[in-house]
Amino acid sequence: MTMLQAHTSVSSQDAWWKSAVVYQVYPRSFADANGDGMGDVQGIISKLDYLAQLGIDVLWLSPIFTSPQDDNGYDISDYQDIDPMFGTMADVDELIAQAHQRGIKIVMDLVVNHTSDEHPWFIESRSSKDNPKRDWYWWRPVREGKTAGEPGAEPTNWRSFFSGSVWELDETTGEYYLHLFSKKQPDLNWENPEVRAAVYEMMNWWLDRGIDGFRMDVINLISKVLPLRDADIGGPDGFAPGFQFVMNGPRIHEFLKEMYEEVFAGRDRVITVGEMPGATTDEARRYTNPGESELDMVFQFDHMSLDRGLDRFHILDLDLRALKATLAHWQTELHGIGWNSLYWNNHDQPRAVSRFGNDREYRVESAKLLGTILHMLQGTPYVYQGEELGMTNYPFVSLDEFEDIESVNYAKAAAQQPGYDEAALILALAAGGRDNARTPVQWDGTPQAGFTSGTPWLPVNPNAGTINAEAAVANSDSVFHYYRKLIDLRHTMPIIVYGDFELLLEEDERVFAYTRSYGNEQLLVLGNFSDDVTAVDIPDAGVWSAAELVIGNYPPVTDAGLHLQPWETRVYRRSV
Ligand code: NOJ
Repeated sequence: MTMLQAHTSVSSQDAWWKSAVVYQVYPRSFADANGDGMGDVQGIISKLDYLAQLGIDVLWLSPIFTSPQDDNGYDISDYQDIDPMFGTMADVDELIAQAHQRGIKIVMDLVVNHTSDEHPWFIESRSSKDNPKRDWYWWRPVREGKTAGEPGAEPTNWRSFFSGSVWELDETTGEYYLHLFSKKQPDLNWENPEVRAAVYEMMNWWLDRGIDGFRMDVINLISKVLPLRDADIGGPDGFAPGFQFVMNGPRIHEFLKEMYEEVFAGRDRVITVGEMPGATTDEARRYTNPGESELDMVFQFDHMSLDRGLDRFHILDLDLRALKATLAHWQTELHGIGWNSLYWNNHDQPRAVSRFGNDREYRVESAKLLGTILHMLQGTPYVYQGEELGMTNYPFVSLDEFEDIESVNYAKAAAQQPGYDEAALILALAAGGRDNARTPVQWDGTPQAGFTSGTPWLPVNPNAGTINAEAAVANSDSVFHYYRKLIDLRHTMPIIVYGDFELLLEEDERVFAYTRSYGNEQLLVLGNFSDDVTAVDIPDAGVWSAAELVIGNYPPVTDAGLHLQPWETRVYRRSV
């Protein structure tokens, strides 16, 4: 078989995942079957019929592997076993089988930029300088002229994604190890071919067991610029972002191609998506071009950073023009070359309806609008658990409510800074923190929202009495049924999958408008991102308003001028 033939099975023009919708489950917060307050695999199995009703094609599970849970499972100590808090391997086999019976595929999280410090590989690596696994991680001596442990003795000045230095001193050998995330998440050294071989072996083991693909955690950080060196500008904490030395590094494409050859070539119907902070469209065109044999699609972050001020916790008002320009850029740059992943939410982001919509007077309308704008784009949409219910941010009021290591470490670091303001910090964490996405899924209106019969590990949002799956499924006008329809449209309308994209009204501060064109068919997608009635100022408004309304979130009106109600969205179809 030639190289090209081998690729067409997974990445041809008609690859199955182009018309698929993925649903992300964050297992500890999804559904708890055994009453310990933590979601588990049996809980997921119990909700498969609900997911099948929603119509999704793929389930992506955030990590359920054995883990000390320093970063809620993104710190793995055994890649080939399940953490007892989630169940057993037998449960996972049952999940795979039961999902497959319903036509749902299973994607696992692949976290291989780092392991847990409790992984046997790291335990060996740290045991002595001449251990055979020493070079599996990044070990460096104390900075010259400095004493181990003193500020500035770290081998480089980079700041961790979770605050503080990326280096931790290990007493056993007196050297530092690199951790871009928490100190319990040491980075694997991908320069070492043994590391890569061990990872590929583990991936093949999972695929052979029946899973259908991987979501690859921060996969564009695995190749570092060598030699490791300081970044230029330091912050008040003495550290600087080392991004340019770790994102999209010099060997990243080589590593991904090798992974493709060792794991994916020859496997049919697999899906791969790489999480890639700092990926540009130029990079993504390479990562996702089928001819390059790397990945099917990537998660980019450009549209997630537009409303961020000082850092990820400082959420500003959104400039709709910037959002439109960014999404349009990704649409046009990847069209015909690579493939987009489409998302508003995941376990690392605040709830989209609270962030980009109006979660008070227009919660239902704005949740439907956001869904429409995203699901009519080209790419594979990802729905994060509870998004299909219009779940909102949690009303945090005090520092001790935050559980997430990123927020907790950030709060500790902030308290050391001059001018520290606790009230402002709480507001920031409440707006931008990851715990918002991690409160239990609201299944019904009972006190623990039907999530658990015990005490949930993170409190249930007090709005569960009104915002819950039971109520949503029973109400044909709910966000749930609207999402069901959006998913169905992608399955049945090739124009949504393949059509050309054109942004309209670039400068309009309230209206998001674009067309999709395919053959002699055209769609017009509209959304009013405001609390005011707003006119859609396009030349052929009259023609469009007489066209077929495919979906909308207000009762249809005959409106010769295209005036949108607050947070109204409409999709029209016509022949051209
Ligand atoms: C990205 C994951 O989505 C996030 O939850 C995690 O904390 C980091 N990678 C580190 O694994």
